[in-house]
Amino acid sequence: MSNSIHSFASSEGKRPVAAISNRPLLELRNLSTNYISARGRRVVRAVDDVTLTINAGETLGIVGESGSGKSTLALTILRVLPPAAHIVGGQMMFEGEDLVQKSDAEMRRVRGKRIAMILQDPMASLNPLFTVGDQVAEPIRVHEGASRATAWRRAIGLLKAVRIASPETRVRQHPHEMSGGMRQRIVGAIAMSCEPRLLIADEPTTSLDLTIQAQYLNLLRELQREHGLALIFITHNLGIVAKMCDQLAVMYAGRVVESGPVSRIFNAPAHPYTEALLNSIPRMGDNRERLTAIEGQPPNLASLPPGCAFAPRCPVAFDRCRAEAPPAMDLGAGRTARCWLAVPAAAEAGLQDGAV
Ligand SMILES: Nc1ncnc2c1ncn2[C@@H]1O[C@H](COP(=O)(O)OP(=O)(O)OP(=O)(O)O)[C@@H](O)[C@H]1O
Ligand SMILES: [Mg+2]
Repeated sequence: MSNSIHSFASSEGKRPVAAISNRPLLELRNLSTNYISARGRRVVRAVDDVTLTINAGETLGIVGESGSGKSTLALTILRVLPPAAHIVGGQMMFEGEDLVQKSDAEMRRVRGKRIAMILQDPMASLNPLFTVGDQVAEPIRVHEGASRATAWRRAIGLLKAVRIASPETRVRQHPHEMSGGMRQRIVGAIAMSCEPRLLIADEPTTSLDLTIQAQYLNLLRELQREHGLALIFITHNLGIVAKMCDQLAVMYAGRVVESGPVSRIFNAPAHPYTEALLNSIPRMGDNRERLTAIEGQPPNLASLPPGCAFAPRCPVAFDRCRAEAPPAMDLGAGRTARCWLAVPAAAEAGLQDGAV
């Protein structure tokens, strides 16, 4: 029997990659989510006017300091926000439908089936009282109406696909009988069980040691390639972005301050914050005692400064930055940046034409 999840999927569950249209799989347009305190006095703008696109088969990395809104963005896409959080604007076009407008019942059919999520802490996603097999089989029964026996067989196949040895034995065990790396793989198997089109992984490797982390990242990549699935990968680690991602979105204070193809951003970051983040990664032959940390504190999202939120920490900020927040500028080649110093594509074209 092959290791591929395809061999266990129902025929209805198989989605040939070739059939995917040119339309982006997910298009976030000016999306904003606030946390609003009980009396409405404190409003935290955790996701602020985010516009991003992800195509089928692509991996989008989301990076940014702690508190920049990465997890809130993920929870917004899945519409599993805590009660204090509210989507206050924008659209989330997924396969041509706006997820913001969907009812809770409709969203339950989307979650797990068409969009799945892997959380940072595998134990938080696993129920200690149920066997691994029951937990992997459950979404297959719920979403596809498969019989117990069929779902159980597919669960064994999925454990094999996520490279768990002796899946026939492991499937009867409980989460506490497994190592951290195995539990993370089980969470991966649950996420893959209904062959989602989009998988969102929020810091899925932080609790794993380095070797297991590398194995898990390879596994995610293989699953992604095999299934043409899109992956949103949230991480603090730019090394992982370089290895895993095609596209990158850099978040600062709830906003995407830069986005575009990873290689282009790494070669020439357009936003001073991205540049500072890149300077904080250790390089080969680097013998600095300490990495360059970004000076200053991230802003309080409940009382943002009037201009660019990064201005107070920015080495090249000038008066306009402190007065007026830059919009997301189109830099061409699929890139955007929210910085007054970034050169928009239109201006560059003008320069080349000698029109300016
Ligand atoms: N339940 C909540 N109620 C109020 N504010 C919240 C809540 N959850 C998060 N926040 C605030 O929203 C902002 C964004 O938080 P979020 O968890 O999305 O950041 P993050 O980028 O995922 O951070 P980390 O890298 O630490 O996981 C932070 O200012 C945080 O304090
Ligand atoms: Mg987070």
